[in-house]
Amino acid sequence: MAEREDEVAAADRAPGERVSSASDALAPDPARRLLIAGTCALGGAVAAGVIVPAARMLLYPRTARVVVTATEPIDIGAAAAVPADGRAVKLAVVAPTVRDAWTAKTNVPLGAAFVRRDQAGNLVALSSICPHLGCAVALAADEKQFVCPCHDSSFALTGERQAGPAERDLDPLPIEEVGGRLKLTWRQYRIGGSTREPA
Ligand code: FES
Repeated sequence: MAEREDEVAAADRAPGERVSSASDALAPDPARRLLIAGTCALGGAVAAGVIVPAARMLLYPRTARVVVTATEPIDIGAAAAVPADGRAVKLAVVAPTVRDAWTAKTNVPLGAAFVRRDQAGNLVALSSICPHLGCAVALAADEKQFVCPCHDSSFALTGERQAGPAERDLDPLPIEEVGGRLKLTWRQYRIGGSTREPA
């Protein structure tokens, strides 16, 4: 019976017409194959976009610094702004760029520094962060010392501790004059304690 059906089908086929097999029916055509490959590639790209950052975050060393402030000197203004008579001026310290693991921000305020010239005319810079608990230190009304409003610590214009609970002098900051501009290197130390340790 089956042989008879095959004979009839063969008679119906045009000369040269190919006989389709069961495997032909299962095999995807080229367009379908392309669609599958594209879908796989897209899925892989999306998965990589999620997995790679997640793996980086999990494997990132705990001790590594996430927020990175430029360590090079920062321009904080014209050197002419600092009087020659030893009085201190308070100048804002603004980082051109601060990076963390994901983003970079520009013009980020870091704090402030008191800048003055010593008797020899050399520039001296002090952090305005109180080394006791981190309040902002201010220049006293008579401009002869620095005072902290939080717990009444006071410091000489040289930064030397005079009174109050602060255990160390104001933190010095490296500064130099380059081409008439003030270039200051911002440093932060651990709050509290008598020794100066990088924060
Ligand atoms: S924070 Fe300055 S004296 Fe306490």
